[in-house]
Amino acid sequence: EAAQKNGFDTYMLKEINEQPHVIQETLRGRIFEHSIVLDELKDVDFNKFNKVYYVACGTAYHAGLCGASILERATRLPVLTQVASEFRYNDPIIDEKTLCIFVSQSGETADTLAALKLANEKGCTTIAVTNVLGSTISREAQHTLYTCAGPEIAVASTKAYTTQLVLLTLIALYIADKRGDTVDTDLMEQLNNLPEYVSKLIDDEAIFENYAKTLKDKHDCYFIGRSLDYASVLEGALKLKEVSYVHADAYIAGELKHGPIALIEPGTVVIAVATQPHVAAKTISNIQETIARGAEVILFTVEGQEVSGVENIYYLPNINPLLQSVLVAIPLQLIAYHTACIKGCDVDKPRNLAKSVTVE
Ligand code: G6P
Repeated sequence: EAAQKNGFDTYMLKEINEQPHVIQETLRGRIFEHSIVLDELKDVDFNKFNKVYYVACGTAYHAGLCGASILERATRLPVLTQVASEFRYNDPIIDEKTLCIFVSQSGETADTLAALKLANEKGCTTIAVTNVLGSTISREAQHTLYTCAGPEIAVASTKAYTTQLVLLTLIALYIADKRGDTVDTDLMEQLNNLPEYVSKLIDDEAIFENYAKTLKDKHDCYFIGRSLDYASVLEGALKLKEVSYVHADAYIAGELKHGPIALIEPGTVVIAVATQPHVAAKTISNIQETIARGAEVILFTVEGQEVSGVENIYYLPNINPLLQSVLVAIPLQLIAYHTACIKGCDVDKPRNLAKSVTVE
């Protein structure tokens, strides 16, 4: 087992460190002369759709939220994201003009599989994004694309999530191109630089370990963000609760004033993500409201963003905002990881959780 961990103490830390490489693998051969190559989808007529659904569970659902937002912006098609256990029981309005994209690391999650079968029955076009070759979901979907994360052993998903984000971004750009929408070539180029940026973030592990020390004696932690950053904080909060058992909730920063701000008292930890330029200043002003009530804030924003009155700020590189979810995932994973380690938790096998949930 020690050999399989490749010198790391845990699978989770090993898998976090593999991200530059597996992101590179997921991108390999996909971008060629300013166009996206996804031969798995070459037979799909993307012009026939009037609606798109992303369906998934857990971490894959958070990746779906990001993919959906990128696709909606690129195509202006109405895009919805639903948790699989809701989708299948909600009598969704879907037909042959609906494209349904199912995201699942294992390709075996019962609710996602059932949702996929429903979409197939209703005549939708179905695409699976999965990490496991030959998995049930890969076989049931009409079209399948694989993330190249390699086997993910730790229960808490890390490298599968970031590779899902990358593949979903490629899919969104591919669909936009096929529908005749203008595709941001700058974004395509920046995708290729992701492994390098991710690697630099992992080099800053000691900073994130230090942030984790703030959390070790806390019972609660609140995450806030807007727009794409909301999906990132949902995943950050999930990671923290999964491995460290610190109660963590994620809120849309604009919703703080409608309830969650009542929870803030001196010493409450708030982790804020503000990487989206059109709303970053709004989130930062929400942070100041929490600081005024005694919160200890850790802020992730981008280089060049104006901030005042926040003590702990980590500046992410100022790359295309649509790619920031991949970057901020790394510090949030490392904060969760180190909080769990400091507390002596079994990070690779958290209590009550399974890697793949094949029951309903
Ligand atoms: C379980 C795992 C999560 C995962 C979720 C969905 O709850 O513990 O890490 O995100 O299932 O799994 P899937 O294999 O469908 O992505």
